[in-house]
Amino acid sequence: MFFPKYRPRRLRRGEIVRRMVRETSLSANDFIYPFFVVPGSGVRNPIGSMPGVFQLSVDELVKDAAEVKDLGIPAILLFGIPEAKDEVGSGAYAQDGIVQQAAQELKEKVNDLLVVTDVCMCEYTSHGHCGLIKDGDVDNDATLDLLARTALSHAEAGADMVAPSDMMDGRVGAIRETLDENGFTNISIMAYAAKYASSFYGPFRDAADSAPQFGDRYSYQMDPANSKEAMREISLDIEEGADIIMVKPALAYLDVIRRASREFDLPLAAYNVSGEYSMIKAAAEKGWLDGERAMMEVLTSIKRAGADIIITYFAKEAVKKLEKA
Ligand code: PBG
Repeated sequence: MFFPKYRPRRLRRGEIVRRMVRETSLSANDFIYPFFVVPGSGVRNPIGSMPGVFQLSVDELVKDAAEVKDLGIPAILLFGIPEAKDEVGSGAYAQDGIVQQAAQELKEKVNDLLVVTDVCMCEYTSHGHCGLIKDGDVDNDATLDLLARTALSHAEAGADMVAPSDMMDGRVGAIRETLDENGFTNISIMAYAAKYASSFYGPFRDAADSAPQFGDRYSYQMDPANSKEAMREISLDIEEGADIIMVKPALAYLDVIRRASREFDLPLAAYNVSGEYSMIKAAAEKGWLDGERAMMEVLTSIKRAGADIIITYFAKEAVKKLEKA
């Protein structure tokens, strides 16, 4: 059936019919909201390159996490900025580390909110790399033990799920094994399975003070040009015990999200990263585009591509917008 009998515009005539035939819709359940937690109390530092996002001390975090929960968002993702950094990132696996304190407080004070913790070394090492440095290089195998210790300390503090973002080979298996040996068989792993070496992490490195002090992350994060390799990385993480797989960043990698959603049957998360957030905020501030509409369009595109879960700094705003609609 072709024009003039068939007219696709018939089903676009008015919001009611558009709503009826809409293929993709967003809900609060889709989102995970990331937080940056710092030492101290009463701290609420605005992050210059991420308007609307703050570094929060634990007491402030508890308030904001309660707001996230009241919006119906099921989970938050915690990043820590420690008091001091050292060569071996000891703040990452310290029992009284910043993320451990935050997880503990949240579990005591906010019910019915999943606490997911980022497991990585880069916020805790003086050199800013995601692993231990040996002879000027990131030492994969020596790092695994520290990542497993970090994950275990998060579980002991009350985290519900751990999210390794370091991209060392074998880390998901090492973490699963350590959690299980210590009785944490119910703690799940959301693996940053296909994480690319991306320029879109720029604002995050301001927020988390985690830029590498020498070199770059190309020897562990993936080459943006590769997609078959992403499938290989994801299948390895699944074999090692991942419960949720992730593609990161989201927007320049929608094809990878689509492909992963077709090839794998685990829940698929996509990380709408800091640079993707800040680009829209900056353009909206300049009046160059409508920030709210751009936000909803981008989030919808990530879901349409096949993501089941979207980690995004827009989560609160998006839910407020959905409630108004
Ligand atoms: C740490 C980590 C990074 C992000 C999440 N975990 C930065 C990086 O790999 O340099 C980026 C998140 C964002 O940009 O929003 N390994």
